[in-house]
Amino acid sequence: MATQGSDLQTTIVIFGATGDLTHRKLVPALYNLMRKGRLPSQFNIVGYARRPWSDDDFREKLRAGVEEALDGEYDQAEWDRFAERLTYSRGDLDTPTDFEALQKHLDQVEGGDANRIYYLSTAPNFYEPVAKHLAALGMFKEQEGYRRLVVEKPFGYDLGTARALNAALHTLLDEHQIYRIDHYLGKETVQNILFFRFANAIFEPIWNRNYVDNVQITVAEEVDIEHRGGYYDGAGVLRDMFQNHLMQLLSLVAMEPPASISADALRDEKGKVLMALRSVTNNDIVVAQYDGYRGSEGVAPDSQTPTYAMLKLFVDNWRWQGVPFYLRSGKALRHKVTEIVIEFRRPPHRMFKRPRSASFNPNALSLCIQPDEGIHLSFEAKVPDTGGDLQPADLEFHYRDQFRESPIPEAYERLLLDAMLGDASLFTRSDEIELSWTLIDSVMNHLNNAGGPEVLNYPRQTWGPAEADARMSRDGRSWRLGCLHPDG
Ligand code: BG6
Repeated sequence: MATQGSDLQTTIVIFGATGDLTHRKLVPALYNLMRKGRLPSQFNIVGYARRPWSDDDFREKLRAGVEEALDGEYDQAEWDRFAERLTYSRGDLDTPTDFEALQKHLDQVEGGDANRIYYLSTAPNFYEPVAKHLAALGMFKEQEGYRRLVVEKPFGYDLGTARALNAALHTLLDEHQIYRIDHYLGKETVQNILFFRFANAIFEPIWNRNYVDNVQITVAEEVDIEHRGGYYDGAGVLRDMFQNHLMQLLSLVAMEPPASISADALRDEKGKVLMALRSVTNNDIVVAQYDGYRGSEGVAPDSQTPTYAMLKLFVDNWRWQGVPFYLRSGKALRHKVTEIVIEFRRPPHRMFKRPRSASFNPNALSLCIQPDEGIHLSFEAKVPDTGGDLQPADLEFHYRDQFRESPIPEAYERLLLDAMLGDASLFTRSDEIELSWTLIDSVMNHLNNAGGPEVLNYPRQTWGPAEADARMSRDGRSWRLGCLHPDG
């Protein structure tokens, strides 16, 4: 992996520095990058938030997060080296004088020219105010070093707000300075979708409507909404997971090969997939809530917010005409698993007529995104010593066996490094965000219309509402998961 190239010192300013994401993900990722020698030789991390913390309070809080994330590999001397680079600037997210104080703090810490990443890990309503205050002080001007703004999700609440946020940011800084995070794109196995498809010659010729019967994308979570009721009840699974993560997985699986792997070439192709999505109808949507959701803190007692959704989508283009893409995601499900299944067509002629071979499974290629990262190909094999009984068999590739020496890094390591390197390929562009909101808005409209899909219930620790299975059966198909152990 490349390291940070520039000789200039680099400062990462984290807004919302006392929040969960900072100590659980961002700082452990930066710490790991330092250990691997991938941070610039001179770097500063500046936390900005309202709490009246000292530098030492800030360091101590982060140390605990790093120690937990490193799970036994924590090294005090290494931490001390890292901690020297951490400072804290107290401030409100919408008070101009506090931003002036931040500017002074940065000048003092840097003492000269520097590159800067401003990381927005705040509540979304502060994205615009923070960017405005930075712009008002000229803090986005790129003279000696770069100035980049990393924006966490959610980016907008619907198409209107996403557009407004894009428009507001574009008046303050250039698109090339904006890095919109979707942490799924930082996952090693998600990046590998493109490598698998385009670094091998044998899959691409069959990656189309002539050979593929349907595509299934499952992002199942075992956890429920935990303590996030206040946020979640206003979002629901469609905004929380589909608008970003599932739409990105869909684009990567369905996109045409780009001419190069450059950020714009990639994002152009992903955008074309989103542009080709057919409008959904009521019949393409199943939504549900897990039992007990309405009793959670922060959730309205009569909430209609779905914690599970299934969508049946079509990509109206030459490659995918008529091939359904079934997407599902939910909380409090039976297992955590993220998997993309490409199910192929059945053989055109069935010559194996024995009862145990009459209804064999079509071939399926499973891209196992998490937790057991890998790729599996399921095919039919003759059971030995029978006249011709068939049984599914599996060709399996597991990262943990193949790449024992190269453990999979956390998504945020890759994303932070790329933001420093100026590589935006794994970040979403304004048009992609708006296109995926267009689809989610149309689904939300169906839900809000009288006569729209009803919010069903499902018991915890199942695979969701029975209706999601029934929809598949009506299409003559069933959900497949090739990455889980068979008793899953
Ligand atoms: C986040 C959602 O974007 O992704 C969470 O807000 C969800 O609700 C999380 O739990 C899932 O991420 P991962 O990496 O655990 O699959």
